[in-house]
Amino acid sequence: MLKVGLVGCGGIGLRHADAYQSHSACDLRAVCDLVPERAEARAEALGAKAYYSEAEMLANEDLDAVGVIVADNLHFEPVMEALEAGKHVLVEKPLALRIDQAQQMVAKAQEKGVQLAVNYNRRFSQVNLRAKREIEAGTLGDLAYIMLKLSQGGPYGTSKEPYYHLYELQVHAFDLLRYFCGEVEELSCELGDVRGTGIWTSAAINLKFTSGAVGTMIGSWDSSFNHPIEYMEVCGTRGYIAVENGLTELRIHPHDTEDITVWHPSPFHEGTRFFDSFRGHIHAFIEALNAGRPVPVTGLDGLRGLQIIEACIASFEGHQPVKPY
Ligand SMILES: NC(=O)c1ccc[n+]([C@@H]2O[C@H](COP(=O)([O-])OP(=O)(O)OC[C@H]3O[C@@H](n4cnc5c(N)ncnc54)[C@H](O)[C@@H]3O)[C@@H](O)[C@H]2O)c1
Repeated sequence: MLKVGLVGCGGIGLRHADAYQSHSACDLRAVCDLVPERAEARAEALGAKAYYSEAEMLANEDLDAVGVIVADNLHFEPVMEALEAGKHVLVEKPLALRIDQAQQMVAKAQEKGVQLAVNYNRRFSQVNLRAKREIEAGTLGDLAYIMLKLSQGGPYGTSKEPYYHLYELQVHAFDLLRYFCGEVEELSCELGDVRGTGIWTSAAINLKFTSGAVGTMIGSWDSSFNHPIEYMEVCGTRGYIAVENGLTELRIHPHDTEDITVWHPSPFHEGTRFFDSFRGHIHAFIEALNAGRPVPVTGLDGLRGLQIIEACIASFEGHQPVKPY
């Protein structure tokens, strides 16, 4: 039974709480928030104990793991505090907004012998999980290219930093590129601000992977939430897979036939709506820790996302291809 406490009782904290509470091998014991009414209300709804600071929660509860679900620019301190206390941590994305902070978190987890995880939940939709299984089973042969689009309404979030779109939203897309095609060797990036928001709201990125595969990605806050926001195609020497909207449909197109396999996950299964993927990831996190296995998404995955973002910025500003790590 994994004993868990959560830091942050906002809207996304509620999604995390639901996921922990719905697992039979997890005991969600406590929540904390700097705003006492939020901590009290959430604790009462969950049947958990309320605290107004992480330090107080850590001092009074015997926890195995801590979830950190606070605003993007505030991840560092609560994560470090939990790691320092010897707790496993699952923090929301992006791991941090600065590479030096991400590196310190990864190093602290290693020093303390605990696991650090980042909520790249999009890996855990039913269609993305199946796409991964098909690729690993060799259905596509050797991978040749990936084409990924993630576009929705925006600007979103609280920051007005010019590159915030890459940190807030596209960090998910960069993780999916690595999840399906492996490490990025080099990339080139162009950014646009067609509405004059002062934020680079659209990105076009070309990538080369260490495997030899290539990729192209469009990421944008200049679209809307009213239509499908994602599309992915991964092609190999034997066929290609197309994933519609990250959730709704997976198609397998083998090269040697005109027949197509089309899969729509049953609406009665979990993992078919966006927030189900939180549950999928958090359940996998709980099960890995209970079994003493590595967690499925690591602090290193979080750090790699930031390194890819910084490479995009360097490429855009320097008008040249950049190696991210
Ligand atoms: N994975 C996804 O698809 C996805 C989607 C949306 C948001 N997010 C991420 O979720 C995170 C949280 O988002 P949110 O909308 O719930 O934020 P929020 O700001 O609405 O809520 C965060 C809460 O944490 C509390 N808090 C802040 N610092 C604290 C501290 N040190 N100790 C205790 N409490 C503290 C705040 O008082 C607030 O109540 C962000 O990192 C965001 O990027 C992820």
